[in-house]
Amino acid sequence: MPKPVLWLRCEKKEFERRAALTPTTSKALIDAGFDIFVERDQQRIFDDSEYEAVGCKLVDNNSWPSAPTSVPIIGLKELPESTDPLPHTHIQFAHCYKKQGGWSKVLSRFHRGGGTLYDLEFLNDANGRRVAAFGFHAGFAGAAAGALALAAQRKGETLGLLTPYENESAMVNHVKELLGGSGKGVKALVIGALGRCGRGAVDLFRKIGLDEDNILKWDLPETEKGGPFQEILDVDIFVNCIYLTSKIPSFINHESIAAAGKQRRLSVVVDVSCDTTNPFNPIPIYNINTTFDKPTVPVDVGEAKPPLSVVSIDHLPTLLPREASEQFSSDLLPSLLEFPTRATARVWTEAEQLFREKLTEAAAVEGL
Ligand SMILES: NC(=O)c1ccc[n+]([C@@H]2O[C@H](COP(=O)([O-])OP(=O)(O)OC[C@H]3O[C@@H](n4cnc5c(N)ncnc54)[C@H](O)[C@@H]3O)[C@@H](O)[C@H]2O)c1
Repeated sequence: MPKPVLWLRCEKKEFERRAALTPTTSKALIDAGFDIFVERDQQRIFDDSEYEAVGCKLVDNNSWPSAPTSVPIIGLKELPESTDPLPHTHIQFAHCYKKQGGWSKVLSRFHRGGGTLYDLEFLNDANGRRVAAFGFHAGFAGAAAGALALAAQRKGETLGLLTPYENESAMVNHVKELLGGSGKGVKALVIGALGRCGRGAVDLFRKIGLDEDNILKWDLPETEKGGPFQEILDVDIFVNCIYLTSKIPSFINHESIAAAGKQRRLSVVVDVSCDTTNPFNPIPIYNINTTFDKPTVPVDVGEAKPPLSVVSIDHLPTLLPREASEQFSSDLLPSLLEFPTRATARVWTEAEQLFREKLTEAAAVEGL
């Protein structure tokens, strides 16, 4: 049997420094008998030499289109827009199964090239849970952005540009420094605290020095009584990390903020869930997604103090590219080890079946 192969392509999306394979997971695959090709990539948080050191074969940046079509290409984010046919097998997030803008055009490239897409968002375990997701570091980075926004607000300033951190301790140290050495005394409430993002948010608050009693952790039982919740108005930072599936009462709204008046402690809301345009958004106090260069949007609270702002960045893990990649890639590893038997391995057969269904829909739309 020929040796199994994977080809890690470069990322072309702006600001994207994460990688689907890390030097650690590449080594595990090589130890299991794989050949791993890695495109040189200045944008990636990991140096090319880190891959070389564990036995990967380095190839030119963006050279995957000329790889033999039998070689599966793995990447993280969408390919740059193009109409070129795609003859290879691709493992990546393609964001084209939920009828996102341009979805049928993306899939039509596979139709014309005869390639296959295994979308990372739809690799599920036997219980229907994603085998790999970026949640933990989204919550971790979101809580950090919230703490930074609080520190800026306390100085009468607005939080400026956020840039990816080299590693987690650089982020933790920076947040602590801007809070005057520690987050002690800050009070936070995390809703969805038992989920991936929620656990990450709680972890950041612990690491920057909040007292355990000052990190309120809520999940389904605590919100069952139905909002709006006074408890949210009584903390400095509220982080929403729920997985929204249906209409629920608002957690906070303009009326509850106005009613709190001068008694309000709440200064920053971090909406990690980012259901910004969802009609069921339980935080209907803002309506845009914020960005790394403008991380907060103010909430109109009239003359009331303190000011209140919302962080609603929808790609938070990018702030911690190293750790986020390590966690995602190691969660993906058991499935990648099964990739050579993808004709029969459940996680891959289900993903391929979904691809075929979406491909048929796209072909009809595109008239192919
Ligand atoms: N902003 C970003 O960069 C970013 C990145 C990754 C994920 N996300 C989003 O974050 C959300 C959470 O993702 P996750 O992977 O942590 O999900 P998850 O399923 O691991 O956790 C969600 C948690 O929310 C809880 N929950 C659901 N409804 C609730 C309610 N009404 N009240 C209280 N708790 C409730 C669940 O019990 C669960 O513990 C998703 O919407 C996801 O798309 C955002």
